[in-house]
Amino acid sequence: MNALVTLLLASTIILNTNNSTMVLNAETGREAQILYYGAALGPNETAALEDAGFRASSLYPAFGLRGAAEPAVSMIQADGNLTLDLRVSEVSAQKWQNGEVLSITSCDPVCPVTVKNFFKTYEAENIIETWVEITNTGKKESTLTRYYSGHLPVRVGDVWLSTLYGTWANEGRVCEEPLARGLKLIKNMDGTRNSHTSHAEAMISLDGKPCENSGRVIGLALEWGGNYELRFQTNDSDFHHVFAGICPDNAPYTLAKGETFKSPALAYSYSGEGLSGVSRNFHRWGRKYRLAHGDIERKVLLNSWEGVYFDINEPGMDQMMGDIASMGGELFVMDDGWFGVKYPRKNDSSSLGDWEVDRTKLPGGIGALVKMADGHGIRFGIWIEPEMTNSVSELYEKHPEWVLKAPGRENVYGRGGTQLVLDMANPQVQDYVFGIVDGLLTQNPRIDYIKWDANMNISAYGSQYTKDQARLDVAYWDGFARTCDRIRAKYPDVTIQACASGGGRANWGVLPWFDEFWTSDNTDALQRIYMQWGTSYFFPAIAMASHISATPNHTVFRTTSLKFRCDVACSGRLGMEIQPKNMTDAEKDFCRKVIADYKGVRPVVQFGDIYRLTSPYDNKGFASMMYVTSEKDKAVFYWWKIANFYDQHFPRAVMAGLDPEKTYRVHELNRIDITPLPCEGKCFSGRFLMENGLDLPSSNNVDYNMKSDWSSRVLYLTVE
Ligand code: DGJ
Repeated sequence: MNALVTLLLASTIILNTNNSTMVLNAETGREAQILYYGAALGPNETAALEDAGFRASSLYPAFGLRGAAEPAVSMIQADGNLTLDLRVSEVSAQKWQNGEVLSITSCDPVCPVTVKNFFKTYEAENIIETWVEITNTGKKESTLTRYYSGHLPVRVGDVWLSTLYGTWANEGRVCEEPLARGLKLIKNMDGTRNSHTSHAEAMISLDGKPCENSGRVIGLALEWGGNYELRFQTNDSDFHHVFAGICPDNAPYTLAKGETFKSPALAYSYSGEGLSGVSRNFHRWGRKYRLAHGDIERKVLLNSWEGVYFDINEPGMDQMMGDIASMGGELFVMDDGWFGVKYPRKNDSSSLGDWEVDRTKLPGGIGALVKMADGHGIRFGIWIEPEMTNSVSELYEKHPEWVLKAPGRENVYGRGGTQLVLDMANPQVQDYVFGIVDGLLTQNPRIDYIKWDANMNISAYGSQYTKDQARLDVAYWDGFARTCDRIRAKYPDVTIQACASGGGRANWGVLPWFDEFWTSDNTDALQRIYMQWGTSYFFPAIAMASHISATPNHTVFRTTSLKFRCDVACSGRLGMEIQPKNMTDAEKDFCRKVIADYKGVRPVVQFGDIYRLTSPYDNKGFASMMYVTSEKDKAVFYWWKIANFYDQHFPRAVMAGLDPEKTYRVHELNRIDITPLPCEGKCFSGRFLMENGLDLPSSNNVDYNMKSDWSSRVLYLTVE
């Protein structure tokens, strides 16, 4: 379908992507409406929507004049008027290389306000973004009390909601529930890490309990790193009303005369191919338009944190670099603990802000480490936490006015009993944060990777810089964006990981400056299957850092087999989080093989289309998923046993996303079995693999002393 925006009758607007259509009404002088969002429609079908009984709803409902429905926007005028009456005054559309940008301008006949609702189509990826600009056209201040990015009515039926919840070390967990009457509110008020306790994305399944590879699903993702709300409201009508935007609680947004508020974008995607279909759309769009370097393969790395924690020293770093290089890794990242002169960073209670190397630990400075990495034939990366300080730091001694703090109150401390959040709203802080990265990269241009951490929420809700305290969230994230823009303008090539106490920054509003995110501080392979499953709803494997770590696991103390840990880690952006010195030679040999195997399939994993198959949340005792190239000539299939009982009987491993007409040769990766699988090296049609599948043994065939209660398989499929 090529005509992207068609003005049918004067007032009907059709937005098309390859597989979806949105129909809006924008008649001059009337309220803008939305009539349809779903599978792609032809012109005749669009024209027949109203004959089929489809009814339009307000596109961007405003408070006060049309009954008690939830508004997307509300404001208080200078004269105290609480009501809004938005009537279309102008519609404009222009093309961009992959679609169209539409704006509908509405004005209020009584109050001085202009609201512009924008829609941007990404034709090939089946994404439609919406956002709003609200301008105070009056002579006096007015105040926005709700300012969501968008509103989507969803017809009542057997509609289910899938959202992601969690906490530190348990991020990205899936919650599935029927969308019931009443109000369902997902919100996050952390301030700095908005994907810890819940995510700013949701899937809405229209055909009953969500299925991975069938059924109509709408996905939505709010592109905002700060506080947000997803609001699902269902009164006694035919529609669920879905809203998403910045959380307006304690954040009335005052608009000066002539001032405009611009909301973050809200991205929608529709697929008739189930949850995985929506995920594929978001992954493709994210890799192409949002993620930094979404088209460049990520290096296999070793991160020092779980290996040595704060115990950083030059020989130790050299040893870790040598070990990861010998296993085929390509990058070493030195985590926390390398800095602080007056207050050396020995633990988490001091030094953030003093980004000067601790020469007692690292006499040769960063320069010596970069050279060591070069000597080992790998690249060097470094950890920083630039938005934070500790009260025990030279920075805080110099600039106590740079921390977030409520007027007239004492500091509220976070991690280590002394951590504080810097005020990113303050331009001096923005310069300082830019300077940290700039300093490191100017002095050490061969630094290849930065792990950018953020380990505290905004607990003292106040800025010593911003006069309007209610603007703090927006001002913080605007300052963050400005700083990151400057960093990226000067250092477009450096790889930057968004870490925030683990997975606190898996969000499409943050990722445009980042290459990836640290999925969770919990590296336990079993729990990672659940967390990575949920996280993959919206974020691709290339962005999802997934590391092989030691056992017993440092967070859950579970002991899993190395094979299982590797088979889980290599379903994301593979890395290691371990002290290699403590590994046996046999373990190192196995990891060397795993890394080599991963490098062979890395483009498939990192750029392929995801097909989640059997969900761990369905409690079937196993989980499986796969990545398939867009040409459908290569695929990587994963099967993990997640519950172990004697005499288990699992169904055959049925696949998806293959070309039924193509013939695929199967090769097991990360193999430990003494004897090959019966399917090893054999060929099967895509149709057979998708209809019948492969019978996989429920345990690995290894020597008695190697047996464990874990079992998993990774299969590589290539077209003959
Ligand atoms: C929290 C991160 O999630 C960890 O990976 C590690 O970098 C620590 N911070 C360091 O303090």
